[in-house]
Amino acid sequence: MSYGFLYPEGVLDMAIKINTEKRIFTLETKHTMYQMQADTYGVLRHLWYGAKTGCDMSYLQDYPDVGFSGNPHDAGNDRTYSLDTLPLEYAGAGIGDFRVPAVEAVHADGSCALDLRYYSHTVKQGKYAIAGLPALYAGEDEAETLEVVLRDTASAVEVTLKYGVLPELDIVTRCAEIRNLGEAPVTLTKAASLCLDMGQGSWEWIHFYGRHAMERQAERRPLLHGIQESSSTRGTSSHHQNPTVLLCTPDCTETSGACVGAALVYSGSHQTKIECDQLGQVRVVMGIHPDLFRWELGAGECFATPEVLLSYSSTGLETLSHQFHRAIREHICRGKYQLAERPVLINNWEATYFGFDTEKILHIAEEAARLGVDMLVLDDGWFGKRDDDCSGLGDWFVNEKKLSGGLHDLVEKIKAMGMRFGIWFEPEMISEDSDLYRTHPDWAIRIPERSPMRGRYQLVLDMTNPEVQEYLFRVMSEVLHSADISYVKWDMNRSISDWYTQTLPADRQGEMPHRYVLGLYALLERLTAAFPEVLFEGCSGGGGRFDAGMLYYCPQIWCSDDTDARERTKIQYGTSFFYPVSAVGSHVSTVPNHQTGRITPFETRAVTAMAGSFGYELDLNLLSDAEKQAVTEQIQQFKAYGPLIHNGRYYRLTNPMTDAEAIWAFAAQDGSEILVQGMIFHAEANTLRHQVKLRGLCAEKQYRLDGTEQVYTGAALMVGGVLLPKAWGDYTPVSMHFTEV
Ligand code: GLA
Repeated sequence: MSYGFLYPEGVLDMAIKINTEKRIFTLETKHTMYQMQADTYGVLRHLWYGAKTGCDMSYLQDYPDVGFSGNPHDAGNDRTYSLDTLPLEYAGAGIGDFRVPAVEAVHADGSCALDLRYYSHTVKQGKYAIAGLPALYAGEDEAETLEVVLRDTASAVEVTLKYGVLPELDIVTRCAEIRNLGEAPVTLTKAASLCLDMGQGSWEWIHFYGRHAMERQAERRPLLHGIQESSSTRGTSSHHQNPTVLLCTPDCTETSGACVGAALVYSGSHQTKIECDQLGQVRVVMGIHPDLFRWELGAGECFATPEVLLSYSSTGLETLSHQFHRAIREHICRGKYQLAERPVLINNWEATYFGFDTEKILHIAEEAARLGVDMLVLDDGWFGKRDDDCSGLGDWFVNEKKLSGGLHDLVEKIKAMGMRFGIWFEPEMISEDSDLYRTHPDWAIRIPERSPMRGRYQLVLDMTNPEVQEYLFRVMSEVLHSADISYVKWDMNRSISDWYTQTLPADRQGEMPHRYVLGLYALLERLTAAFPEVLFEGCSGGGGRFDAGMLYYCPQIWCSDDTDARERTKIQYGTSFFYPVSAVGSHVSTVPNHQTGRITPFETRAVTAMAGSFGYELDLNLLSDAEKQAVTEQIQQFKAYGPLIHNGRYYRLTNPMTDAEAIWAFAAQDGSEILVQGMIFHAEANTLRHQVKLRGLCAEKQYRLDGTEQVYTGAALMVGGVLLPKAWGDYTPVSMHFTEV
């Protein structure tokens, strides 16, 4: 196909195509195209993000003279040329674009304008990395990088926009580097990762809101004129609004319509603003939350923003999710367990809370080992003085009163049973009632002369302080060396306030929230590198820090403190729009459920937990013999289906927020098998069995339903659907596996 473009010599099939004459940059993936142009004034205009068109899309931009939308001085008498109306790649503030800016800076003279114009560009093979921050990685032959350098017309501020193009994944990544090339300091007050001007068109947006024990509730809303926002100022990505957002056409469904997704690879405070402007054009600006951000750039210094993953689909939300699942599982998650089968865990938290000793843990372990569990995870309470949540955090030394004989002995006994051992930490926290606090009260985050907020009775350690990082690395390493530990649950149980650090002078305190995250990442990087055999699972009061940044260090994250199977269908549904199933920590717990009091059948809890990295969180000794037998079978089932569940394609077959049942499926990439699971919420008398249409099969292939002789064509299963079992009692489980014959 000819674009009339000039390609870099000898690389006709490159993903990045540049027409040097017209200064048009086209980024192509298998099914998508991203295009921008440095126009005659050097303004970098966004031209297109969507399906491939093979065309220069600048013809769509024809602007009238819009009243009160002024004109740059160098546009002379052309009143149709306004930065207030043009789609921009990275909008600076203060120069006549009155929409949401991407970047704001205060210069030495106190002025706050940035007028960014094209300066140069380079194309590189491979994917860029960002020092100190998690980012998508790829092999040299899997990605290309475009860097476009913009410079302010008056000051010495330079911005490098980086674009990673992953053709096979249909992913484009973005980040920005902001440099001060001058002598005088410049203070950044906003530095977004993404500015995406979608042009005119009718859009809806989907965001993922929630609270503790009810994370990532998918909410779809029309895009109204003005600004809508999804954000967190809690110092973490939060339970409350996830740093991911979707735009879709009103007719967009799981299987049809256009949609764009953006996921911020960041675990701190964030903000996404979506503005529908006076002309009906849509701008998305995503990045670090600017309210808590001020960053001083001294002479020659550079600030790198976190990365955003972008993807587009013209065939509905399902394709978009598959693209993100693959990108995150295969190009964000790392380490030994990235693609490996995950161990089936037994976690003692809901079984014992703080009330355990060696004997009780061994008792739980024995039964777990007998039933086929792979690993026992000892949760909160094993260290310091920790009999409730009022004390002990920071003292990462075994509490020998509870664990007589210490960790080594306990772990050896558990290993002798044939299981491995994992342990809980909450590294970033400190209890006022702890030896650590008594020795280093100055390590806790607080503003001098002001009483700090407590969250779950605890304070937060100043992760910007290298001494704190060093301490945590040392004590955690000691624990991990003291016994054969195969897994770490990294928890974080409060929102952060009272921002202040002794590591920065008064006029640079605004750097702290981001420096906290950098400190956290530095420690995670160091520990995961020092213990490559250990599986790290993220956690923050359940899924309060469930983001692509944490997934770079921890290939799985405890999805929610709500283990109620019915509630989990909503939480896991919302989680599935961006995050792969393998990333979702999910356990079978007891009934009545500890968060809701609800009673659901044992098998229903199991199928729900299987849509993740599977485990148990109850005292298996308290189960009936039939339930124990079921545990063994469930584990065998998870072992058998695990590769399909984690490597297959995930399908949301119903919407648990609105439908009468929650049904999802895992289909093999080659369409050779499918596992359909979920639950029917309520039983009714005299009704028909529900039908659900499958997806991801080959229409012409034949499939047999396991345990029966019944054979169907893929077409029948996809067009006619399957008949779900007859509901008997509320929350009837569904589990049907079809194999190609
Ligand atoms: C958080 C976690 C739980 C558990 C407790 C322990 O709430 O999400 O799974 O580890 O802390 O205090």
